[in-house]
Amino acid sequence: MHVFLTGIAGFLGSHLADRLIAAGHRVSGNDTLIGGYRDNVPTEATFHEVDCCDLDAMTRALEGVDVVVHTAAAAYEGLSVFSPALVVQNNVQASVSTFTAAIRRRVRRVVHCSSMSRYGDNPVPFTEDMPVRPRDPYAIAKVAAEELLVNLAQTHGFEHCIAIPHNIIGARQKYDDPFRNVASIMANLMLQGRQPIVYGDGSQMRCFSPIGDVVGCLERLVIGDDVDGLVVNVGPDEGFITILELAERLARVIGFSPLEPIFVEPRPCEVKLATCSAALAREKLGYVAQTSLDEGLLDIVEFIRTRGPLPFTYHLPVEIVSERTPRTWKDRLF
Ligand SMILES: NC(=O)c1ccc[n+]([C@@H]2O[C@H](COP(=O)([O-])OP(=O)(O)OC[C@H]3O[C@@H](n4cnc5c(N)ncnc54)[C@H](O)[C@@H]3O)[C@@H](O)[C@H]2O)c1
Repeated sequence: MHVFLTGIAGFLGSHLADRLIAAGHRVSGNDTLIGGYRDNVPTEATFHEVDCCDLDAMTRALEGVDVVVHTAAAAYEGLSVFSPALVVQNNVQASVSTFTAAIRRRVRRVVHCSSMSRYGDNPVPFTEDMPVRPRDPYAIAKVAAEELLVNLAQTHGFEHCIAIPHNIIGARQKYDDPFRNVASIMANLMLQGRQPIVYGDGSQMRCFSPIGDVVGCLERLVIGDDVDGLVVNVGPDEGFITILELAERLARVIGFSPLEPIFVEPRPCEVKLATCSAALAREKLGYVAQTSLDEGLLDIVEFIRTRGPLPFTYHLPVEIVSERTPRTWKDRLF
């Protein structure tokens, strides 16, 4: 099977590419490298440095493709409050152009990566049958992309499914990016001998998902024959940890001491507690949480140690600078 991954230089896209290549599939993909690393792309994959928003270039790239997995996104929930134009462009326009190119090329199936942010302030744990209640520009864009996919699939007749991953950790995540990936940011800081920065009091509760546990589920969505129309959370529903505890766990894994986190103002719109049910993923995709949090954190630490800790690059524009914009970005604290 020929599988095309948008965002193949990204964290999730590159791991899924490896998995599909190992299973004997032909893999190609595209990326603009705003959120990934060029050397994440497996050497066996054909790489197009093409923007998903470029409909004609995407149509050319999708020739002969059986399945498209759309992982490309500006996956910046916190930043989306201050850079909504960038985030909407690279989530809504990028998605609709990808889907349109897939329709033009008569691609059989599109597997789309959405986000847990779609659930907004629904009661936890989030289940797939809950109404979507997006609460920030990133979440609104992810929901718009989902709705476009479902609408186009119904009209033009192609298979589609929607994965909802959450808080994935592991090697290859962009760790010099000050705008996202809390565990990688903290690890990069500590490996530079610097204290981690925590928004608010650090009591935000999360449930992290080591990458190895996620790619198997996505592979099932690519090759499974009973997944058309499926919308499914992909990630753990146990093993909660606060952001402050995450800093402590990372410090232990790295051997960083003394840990004295720097606390800054909470970010607007940041949710305190967000957890998903994994019941449907267990039933439909054989999801099992096999990797421990410490193993996932060690994976990040070894990746950064191998490449070397890096200064943070403020590579994206902060479109709205006001008294509400976090100091971490306005004053470049990372
Ligand atoms: N990592 C997580 O915890 C998580 C959680 C929920 C949802 N997701 C979703 O999973 C998907 C993958 O996330 P990730 O963590 O691998 O992110 P990532 O940033 O590592 O990968 C996304 C890739 O898409 C590329 N990209 C962005 N805009 C593009 C465009 N217009 N054209 C081509 N390439 C473009 C980026 O350069 C990057 O390499 C995203 O859709 C994200 O919203 C991820």
